[in-house]
Amino acid sequence: MTSESPRLRPAVPGDYDRIVAVVDDWWGRPVRSNLPRLFLDHFHRTSLVAENAGEPAGFLVGFLSPSMPDCAYIHFAGVAPPFRGGGLARRLYESFFALAAAGHRTRVRAITSPRNSASIAFHTAMGFSVTGPVAGYDGPAVDRVVFDKRLPRP
Ligand SMILES: CC(C)(COP(=O)(O)OP(=O)(O)OC[C@H]1O[C@@H](n2cnc3c(N)ncnc32)[C@H](O)[C@@H]1OP(=O)(O)O)[C@@H](O)C(=O)NCCC(=O)NCCS
Repeated sequence: MTSESPRLRPAVPGDYDRIVAVVDDWWGRPVRSNLPRLFLDHFHRTSLVAENAGEPAGFLVGFLSPSMPDCAYIHFAGVAPPFRGGGLARRLYESFFALAAAGHRTRVRAITSPRNSASIAFHTAMGFSVTGPVAGYDGPAVDRVVFDKRLPRP
């Protein structure tokens, strides 16, 4: 990892193009169809970007559930390969936990593909419970691992 410490800031809709341009590379497989523009247009106020020298080093796209008043949800988060292993994803998640708690949320949820062992290890390290793989979670033959974390009450 590099010696600089990326700066965290709230996302803006204009971040979309730079983020979607790197996600296939960061994930090592095609994932960009999971991140349509609507997520930055409509959820940028609860999403975060980590920047280094003006370039994205990491990001988190999340929202406060409009339908589950106790719940916040992390849809997509990633860290550029050179910045991995230095606690950047932890910083992004902890900033989102603070934002969720300020919005009176008591739990945070996320899901991942069963093949994404890095995501499962990361969420386990971050204190999420891990359920699954849940067969057919996202429709026929689309299994998902489900993460859930209770936030401490303020
Ligand atoms: C998963 C990912 C976000 C982790 O980012 P990161 O900045 O390297 O993670 P951190 O350095 O903040 O690690 C936080 C904790 O998770 C653990 N962790 C992170 N990646 C891990 C891995 N691949 N295997 C095992 N543990 C891992 C760390 O050991 C650390 O634990 P600790 O704080 O108890 O020491 C990053 O590898 C990534 O972007 N992967 C590709 C995209 C992806 O799969 N995203 C899904 C995650 S939501």
